[in-house]
Amino acid sequence: MRKIAVLNQKGGVGKTTTVVNTAAALAQAGKRVAIIDLDPQSHLTIHLGLEPEKIEAGSYKVLTGDSTIEQELIMVRPNLWLLPANVDLVGAETELVSVVGRETILREAVAAIDDKFDFLLIDCAPSLGLLTLNALAAVKEVLIPLQPHFLALQGFGKLLHTVELVNKRINPELRVKGVLLCMYDSRASLPNEVRADIEQFLENGRGSNLAWADARILPVAIRRNIKLAEAPSYGKTIFEYEPNCHGAEDYQKVADFLMNESSSKAAAEDIITEYEKTPETAHPPVEIQSIPEEQPRKGAVVEDVVRDNPQDDN
Ligand SMILES: Nc1ncnc2c1ncn2[C@@H]1O[C@H](COP(=O)(O)OP(=O)(O)O)[C@@H](O)[C@H]1O
Ligand SMILES: [Mg+2]
Repeated sequence: MRKIAVLNQKGGVGKTTTVVNTAAALAQAGKRVAIIDLDPQSHLTIHLGLEPEKIEAGSYKVLTGDSTIEQELIMVRPNLWLLPANVDLVGAETELVSVVGRETILREAVAAIDDKFDFLLIDCAPSLGLLTLNALAAVKEVLIPLQPHFLALQGFGKLLHTVELVNKRINPELRVKGVLLCMYDSRASLPNEVRADIEQFLENGRGSNLAWADARILPVAIRRNIKLAEAPSYGKTIFEYEPNCHGAEDYQKVADFLMNESSSKAAAEDIITEYEKTPETAHPPVEIQSIPEEQPRKGAVVEDVVRDNPQDDN
C-alpha cells in the first residue's frame, strides 16, 4: 500500500480537495483506496457527503485505542473507504499527551490494513501538532499542496524541517514526494515566480540526505476552478459533480501520475512531457472574486470560495 500524507500547516491551500478528488480518481480506476480524515474540522468527511455530527467514532476512537481502523472504515464509494472525523478529534491532541508512544498510534493502526488497500491518503489538520505527527509517522510519502500566491513560501521551510525531524527520529522511510500547485493560474506572473522560488528552494536540497532531497513540483498543477469549490457543498467528488471540468481533468492527471509512478517511471515521464506540451491557451484567464455558496449543505463549513471567470466554468 502506498501511504501518502497530504500536508500543509496552512489552511485553504487545497489539502482536502486534493485528497477527495485524487482518491476518487484512483478508486474509479479500480484501485482500492483508504482515506483518513485527521482534521478536527471534518472537511473530508463532509465533502464526501457524511455528517460529522452523526459519526460516533472514526479517527478519534482509533487514536484513543477504543476501536480499530478496520471497524471504523466506512465504504463511501465503490473501492473507496473513509476513516471519518468528528468534533471529538479536537480533544485528541491534549488527551493523548500523556500516552506513551502517542506519535505512532496511527502507524500501528494502519499496519493492520497495509495489505488490504493500494493507496492510503491522509488529510491532515492545518497544524504541525500531534495529529499531524501521527500522520507523518504512519506514511512514507508527503505531498504538499500549495497555493502559489504571496507568502506561499512562508512556513514552507518549517514544514520541510518538521518532516526532516520526523524522518530522523521516528520514521526513517519518510520522504517528501513533492509539491502540488493548487488554484494555479499559469498566465499570471506571481504564480510563476512562486513556482521558480519553490524550485530553487528544492534544488538546494538535491544530493543531500534530507527527507526532501528528491522532492519536486508535480508535473500536474490544479487550475483554479469554481466547480472544485462548489462540489463539497453537495457532498460530491468532482467526478460526480461535474466530470467535464478542468478540476476533474487535473485531478485525474494527479491520479494517473501516482498510478504510473507505481508501475513505471517511464510512463510518468510521458505524462510530464504531455503536460508541458499543453499550450498556454488551455489555461484561460480567471478573475478572482468572492461569492457566497448558493446551497450549502446543512452543517457544512462554508469556506471562502473563489470564482472562475464565468466563461471558464468547464
Ligand atoms: N483548484 C481550485 N479552484 C477553486 N477552488 C478551490 C480549488 N481547490 C480548492 N478550492 C476551494 O478552496 C477552499 C480551500 O480548499 P481545501 O481543499 O478545503 O483546503 P485545505 O484542506 O488545505 O484547507 C475550499 O473552499 C475549496 O473548495
Ligand atoms: Mg482541509
